[in-house]
Amino acid sequence: MTQQKATNITWHKGNLTRDERFAALKAKGCTMWFTGLPSSGKSTIASALEQVLVQRGVHSYRLDGDNIRFGLNKNLGFSADDRKENIRRIGEVAKLFADSGSIALTSFISPYAADRDAARALHDSAGLPFLEVFVDTPIGECEKRDPKGLYKKARAGEIKGFTGVDDPYEAPPKAELRLASGEMNVEACVRACLELLESRGLFVGR
Ligand code: ADX
Repeated sequence: MTQQKATNITWHKGNLTRDERFAALKAKGCTMWFTGLPSSGKSTIASALEQVLVQRGVHSYRLDGDNIRFGLNKNLGFSADDRKENIRRIGEVAKLFADSGSIALTSFISPYAADRDAARALHDSAGLPFLEVFVDTPIGECEKRDPKGLYKKARAGEIKGFTGVDDPYEAPPKAELRLASGEMNVEACVRACLELLESRGLFVGR
């Protein structure tokens, strides 16, 4: 648990309830949390899903591992502690997006089950849906894709602590959705995500 450092702070409730916000915006906020090995297809699927959702008039926004590390999380590396802090911050940010009525799509390796569970617990305690999506692509396929050439570098010893090579990835045992992206194309993965949202009553498209 991250310690509360600031003292003399008081929660300010605001004037709107969440229900009033969602009703006025015709929105339902939630977080879809994509997890998987590097090059498993998280960002590609999340981007395609974001495009479909927004084109259908649904508020949705993607938080991407690489992208967030250029800004909010630029002071974090890939040690276990830094990955934990990376995921803690993104859990908090995704929760804010979800609370605002957006479908937050997060695409982070998020290799540790405990860190993903903490993000889930944060949403649970705020009464916001959290859908874990395991992009379950075999490492051999990820390594074959290797669009950034990082597996190659890791195998050559040029990157230390690379997930799947010499750093762990803990697969989720209870994800709401498993995408076998080695066997399904991107469209099929997007369809499965939309079906999940629909089945939970979270897809308020126009
Ligand atoms: S996480 O483990 O903390 O969740 P995150 O998703 O933010 O990782 O970032 C992963 C991205 O960082 C990868 O897609 C890859 O481009 C890059 N990267 C650089 N070094 C590493 C590393 N040692 N392990 C994994 N990914 C790395």
